[in-house]
Amino acid sequence: MKITVAGAGNVGLVTAVCFAEAGHQVTCLDTQKEKIEMLEKGHIPFFEPGLEPLLEKNLLNGQLCFTTNPNQAYSEADIIFIAVGTPEKKDGAVDVSYIYAAVYTIANTIQKDVIVCTKSTVPVGTNDTIKQIFQQRKPRHIKVDVVSNPEFLREGSAVMDFFLGDRIVIGTDNPKAASIMEQLYLPLKIPILFTDIRSAEMIKYASNAFLATKISFINEISNICDKVGANIEEVSYGMGMDKRIGTSNLQAGIGYGGSCFPKDTKALVQLAGNVHHPFELLESVIKVNQHQHSLLVSKAKEMFGSLKGKKAALLGLAFKPETDDIREAVSLTIIKELLEEGSIITAYDPIAVPNAHKVIGNSIEYTTNIRQALKGADFAVIATEWDQIKHLSLDTYAAYMKEPIVFDGRNCYSLKDMERYPITYVSIGRPTIANVKHSPQH
Ligand code: UGA
Repeated sequence: MKITVAGAGNVGLVTAVCFAEAGHQVTCLDTQKEKIEMLEKGHIPFFEPGLEPLLEKNLLNGQLCFTTNPNQAYSEADIIFIAVGTPEKKDGAVDVSYIYAAVYTIANTIQKDVIVCTKSTVPVGTNDTIKQIFQQRKPRHIKVDVVSNPEFLREGSAVMDFFLGDRIVIGTDNPKAASIMEQLYLPLKIPILFTDIRSAEMIKYASNAFLATKISFINEISNICDKVGANIEEVSYGMGMDKRIGTSNLQAGIGYGGSCFPKDTKALVQLAGNVHHPFELLESVIKVNQHQHSLLVSKAKEMFGSLKGKKAALLGLAFKPETDDIREAVSLTIIKELLEEGSIITAYDPIAVPNAHKVIGNSIEYTTNIRQALKGADFAVIATEWDQIKHLSLDTYAAYMKEPIVFDGRNCYSLKDMERYPITYVSIGRPTIANVKHSPQH
């Protein structure tokens, strides 16, 4: 099938490359010329494991091409996927203007019958508006079927998620479009669920909101564990053994970040509010998450009294490992709060430093060498569970830091291992290890 993907961001590019890999003829369009030029040379503008080799391969074998030209992209396509950004507006609502801009361009460009399929996360009802736009704008003799096909790709494992996902959701009211979409996805051997359009749109929001709820739930339990002397790792493990609960998204920490959970939870609260149904549960999930972002700086303040002039090693800038994405990363809140307290920060990340520098600028120092970050530090804060941090030899802390005090926001180390070292180790929902007596006047 001839496929076009509108948008070469995380979702669009993975979709384009993976459909090409699956044997389809794919054109990927983006309005940014520099991005397209980079992609044509086989380079991806962000970090996504496994994506670049597939990009190079499919460019070479002619299955995949890139363009900024709508005519080239849309006129001959059988299926057009819309995968442009749907950023958050100031009030938490979703900015769907890029979606509608793409729809107008498609309506003005298509020359044959086509399925237009929305991959981007859009508020319930958006695809109905898309249908109306096509009704008004498309050439009369051309038939356009609108399908909602939300994506469930995680950054850092998006290629694997594309080929080995749990389900594919296809929302359409047209049996012929459903059958074409089925043919497209059948070779992947992933269960396909057919729904109406609005339910497909809602499945995406409800899924992300539920996953975020699990995280805030376990984080609240971890805060209570802290107070009653229980260990969240054991509690979470014991809960996850119940198949009805499951083990995923029960990793306690300093909260969720990224370009999806924070945005989608707020959007669903807005959506519910718009139909006069306050979504109080989800509002609490968001509140708990915000509180969690500030947890470690509060704990550090409690320990030191004042953080003014203290040297902090911030380990991890990306919102999670295996990505260079710092959108809504917890590290950003930690940096802001530590700077307000007058701390001096050196931040370590293996790949997210350039992105962080663009946003934070020169108010902190950056390094891609953990030891460099720890050198002479009064305390360390772990914000991302990178393997490089998890596998760091534990004597490094005492060897490099002025005082080996570690606030671990991702429970990277076992307490048993930590107990063998001269360290003060504060983690999430677990007893503190205080093998070094700390003196606040340091
Ligand atoms: C999320 C969903 O997992 C995908 O299914 C969805 O397609 C995607 O959003 C999207 O809407 O596009 P993503 O944001 O890439 O994917 O990352 P996740 O792996 O879900 O992690 C999100 C955040 O939750 C991270 O900050 C992570 O550190 C945090 N998290 C995750 C926890 O704090 N605890 C956990 O147990 C799991």
